[in-house]
Amino acid sequence: MILDNLFQSLSYYDESSEKYGVHSWRADFPILETSVHGKPLVYLDNAATTQKPLAVIEAESLYYRHDNANVHRGVHLLSQRATDAFEAARFKVQHLINAVSPDEIIFVRGTTEAINLVAQSYGRSRFKAGDEIILSRMEHHSNIVPWQILCEQTGVNLRIIPINNSGELELEAYNQLLNLRTKLVAVAHVSNAMGTINPVRAMIDLAHVHGVPVLLDGAQAIAHLPVDVQSLDCDFYAFSGHKLYGPTGIGVLFGKAALLEAMPPYQGGGDMIRSVSFDGTTYNTLPYKFEAGTPNIAGVIGLGAAVDYLAGIGFDALIEHELALLAYATQSVSDIPGLRIIGNALEKTAILSFVLEGIHPHDIGTILDRHGVAIRTGHHCTMPLMEHFGIAATARASFALYNTRTEVDKLVEAIYHVKELFGR
Ligand code: ALA
Repeated sequence: MILDNLFQSLSYYDESSEKYGVHSWRADFPILETSVHGKPLVYLDNAATTQKPLAVIEAESLYYRHDNANVHRGVHLLSQRATDAFEAARFKVQHLINAVSPDEIIFVRGTTEAINLVAQSYGRSRFKAGDEIILSRMEHHSNIVPWQILCEQTGVNLRIIPINNSGELELEAYNQLLNLRTKLVAVAHVSNAMGTINPVRAMIDLAHVHGVPVLLDGAQAIAHLPVDVQSLDCDFYAFSGHKLYGPTGIGVLFGKAALLEAMPPYQGGGDMIRSVSFDGTTYNTLPYKFEAGTPNIAGVIGLGAAVDYLAGIGFDALIEHELALLAYATQSVSDIPGLRIIGNALEKTAILSFVLEGIHPHDIGTILDRHGVAIRTGHHCTMPLMEHFGIAATARASFALYNTRTEVDKLVEAIYHVKELFGR
């Protein structure tokens, strides 16, 4: 949604218009009852990780209490129950992102591992010296460093899409970067540092005109936008469970089946083989070919519960709530002297990154913490982006479905206190 529309939405945005039941959503998250330094917790670090609803906490606990066994390996009842719950979660994820088949859903540790998998399996087996990979200036380090490692291994070169001062990709420059040497485009769906929603559908279409596959880093998009990998037509999509109200240590790589079929395994071990002998090993079918070793079974089950939880809320309600909150927060900080928002894209998710003149973001974060307000400060694993803006760090408030306008007010109040302490 365009920010202008958001500001219009403010006219009807008041506490009672948190009509989708933000207060009942909050009740689903036990940690929101916590106090920090004697103040009620105001958790605005959701881009780093989201809090977990009881449904997720209980799904993991129930698995360990009643069904704990290894998957795909045992004929005994517990192993069958664990396998059923594990594979049911795969179906849930398939439906969440509208993949064609559950075979296209690979469980990994998180977005980082998913991207490393594509770099080392797809990239290393196909790319050669002189080939090019297109990234953007706003990428998280996890969508830069795996490709740099691949560059060292293969002689591939990186090409970088520049951004404008609003924090949007320069699409004309992107178009110019695509050429016969381009072998892959890997970009963030949503910027973790600024909230920019990139025009990935158009970017994928352009790449495909050149026969170039596209990987989307969906870490920051997955909990804030409906993702449909068929309508996006992306070739790979990576995300982490913990940004989606699910557990840490579990994530997903979606890949189009034809690509995954043709890729060599990333790691060797149990479950990814069909047969092993010292004369040679044959590999398992998808998705197991990429799931070597005992997986994070509880994590997968917890992720399935998180997907169910989100489905119960629905993206329409969630988006309307989060964007109204972003508009309210943006407007609320706009009068603070010396405050500059980093990232003013027309299309944004609910992230408010900012700097305060003469005050280091770490000081902002530390003082806000004394008010119970948790934000993230630093470079957000996007050092090239910080370099573009000529800054070392920002303070970042990132919102989730359970945040309220009252919490935004507490954020603003705490920022004024920071300024007061620094005599600004
Ligand atoms: N990538 C996470 C963030 O943006 C950790 O905070």
